[in-house]
Amino acid sequence: MQLTSRYRFVASHRLNTAALSVEQNAKLYGKCNNPYGHGHDYVLDVTVDGPLDASGQIVNRAALDALVETQVLQRVDHRDLNTEVEELQDQVTTTENLAVTIEGMLKSQWTLPARLMRVRIAETARNAFELETEN
Ligand code: NI
Repeated sequence: MQLTSRYRFVASHRLNTAALSVEQNAKLYGKCNNPYGHGHDYVLDVTVDGPLDASGQIVNRAALDALVETQVLQRVDHRDLNTEVEELQDQVTTTENLAVTIEGMLKSQWTLPARLMRVRIAETARNAFELETEN
């Protein structure tokens, strides 16, 4: 059995890497490289899987919500991903890298009986990125 819980956060970012020149960054990342950045309403889906416990649930929803709140949302919501999230300091803030980072934030403090199975982030209504976690 699987459960997917949905969360929302807003954040700003800019796609840019110090490894490339100004011109190369502009060519590679297009308008996502604009100097002052831009924002997204991200939708984060966290999927867990496991057997039902004696209460008839996969996981205690409040415990999952609390973990996502403290480990992820408090650290990314209304933040600038390029400068305010320690794990992303040396990375390009693509949603792919953001998904890997959020997986790591969750796994580092994961104490729930259910297995973390998937992290999915929709950056816009037109694209979403899914990361199947390995245990
Ligand atoms: Ni963007």
